Amino acid sequence: MIQSFNKIYKVTGTLSLSGDKSISHRELLISSLAEGKSYLKNLSNSDDVKSTISCLQALGIEIEFNEKELIVNGRGYKGYRQPLNSLNAENSGTTARLLTGILSVQKFESTITGDSSLSSRPMKRVIEPLTKMGAKIKANKGGKLPLHISPAEILKSIRYQLPVASAQVKSAILFAGLHLEEQTSVIESTPTRNHTENLLGLSTQRVGTKIESFVSKNDYPEAKAYFIPGDISSAMFFIVLTLLTKNSELFIKDVSLNQTRTECLKLLKRMGGNIQIEEKGSSNNEVYGDLLVKSSELSNVRIEKEIIPLIIDEIPILTIAGIFAEGIFELRGAAELRVKESDRIKAICLNLLKLGLDVVEFDDGFSVSGKIKQDSEPFKSFGDHRIAMAFSILTSLLIDGGKVEGFESVSVSNPDFLKQLKSISS
Ligand code: S3P
Repeated sequence: MIQSFNKIYKVTGTLSLSGDKSISHRELLISSLAEGKSYLKNLSNSDDVKSTISCLQALGIEIEFNEKELIVNGRGYKGYRQPLNSLNAENSGTTARLLTGILSVQKFESTITGDSSLSSRPMKRVIEPLTKMGAKIKANKGGKLPLHISPAEILKSIRYQLPVASAQVKSAILFAGLHLEEQTSVIESTPTRNHTENLLGLSTQRVGTKIESFVSKNDYPEAKAYFIPGDISSAMFFIVLTLLTKNSELFIKDVSLNQTRTECLKLLKRMGGNIQIEEKGSSNNEVYGDLLVKSSELSNVRIEKEIIPLIIDEIPILTIAGIFAEGIFELRGAAELRVKESDRIKAICLNLLKLGLDVVEFDDGFSVSGKIKQDSEPFKSFGDHRIAMAFSILTSLLIDGGKVEGFESVSVSNPDFLKQLKSISS
């Protein structure tokens, strides 16, 4: 589907966003493991989270929906039922990788599949540590989906240093470790989002520049009530639009302010962005609050490699901020972008070339400079929600507007994107 956009001249209003996608996946999984009813308020309405819900239902977990909240009827320790069919994670890497951790310790066989994008993404990164724990996982050629998981003979805890900075890999190991008497730990040299640790209340320790997180059966969850703060990654599209539009002001309510997610806000503030942040509270260790964003003049700054894992999902929209900012936008140390929902380095570079910008592509990033010379060719989403939304914002900033091909992919993280964009713009 091709979506057209006119130039937006002014942004005003208030947004309350659906719950953070990463937190929503984890709260669903944790509630399904706990015994009894858990109550989830403001769960993400994304397609990705729907994939986690349908996988859990296939595992025998009853889920009730009402207007106020979603209720998960957890079946307690090893309470999943063997699924009749394979579990389809669709486009959702978080569903596939985190479930692999949990299914590795179950006493039944299961298979995880996904759509064509997910089926081309690397799974060896979870297979390797889980196999060290004793899991039996067979993958397709090259360590890709489908994954066939068989019951393990003996499971043991591990102390594992992450070779790639990945919250999904860390969480898969922690979810498996949650089922073992002995302590499992994961060490990361570069921090990644810490929602699994927060929501399970795990202990963590700094070892020099490294962080080690510990888990065992003692941390097994109980049923409870959750409030899921608004999705900061979805908020970023509207934040960048507001900063780059004259005479604009946007208020965003109850959004996640988890410190492993707000590096994107800090970067925009370093670029000159007028963003006021007010912390209001926390739910199950997840901090949230309000943002007030005002039009700003931006300048590009150096993006340190160490923060890349903490801004990985926001890079497409940060690039849009970068091309309207003073100076050259340069990103290095971000090779992980090549194995996201699309090869995001290629997707961004190909789209930016359509604007007549000077683009240099590197293995692990790109640089962009020059002035926009608009073309009428539509931008391509490459079936990737974050590329679709980033280039929708870009076209809304161009004098002649523009078009985005494959726009429907936005529902992977935010089905309300267009409605929300219209509600704040004139
Ligand atoms: C996620 C972790 C990140 C991120 C993804 C969501 C999560 O992936 O890109 O959108 O919820 O754990 P990696 O952990 O593979 O970097």
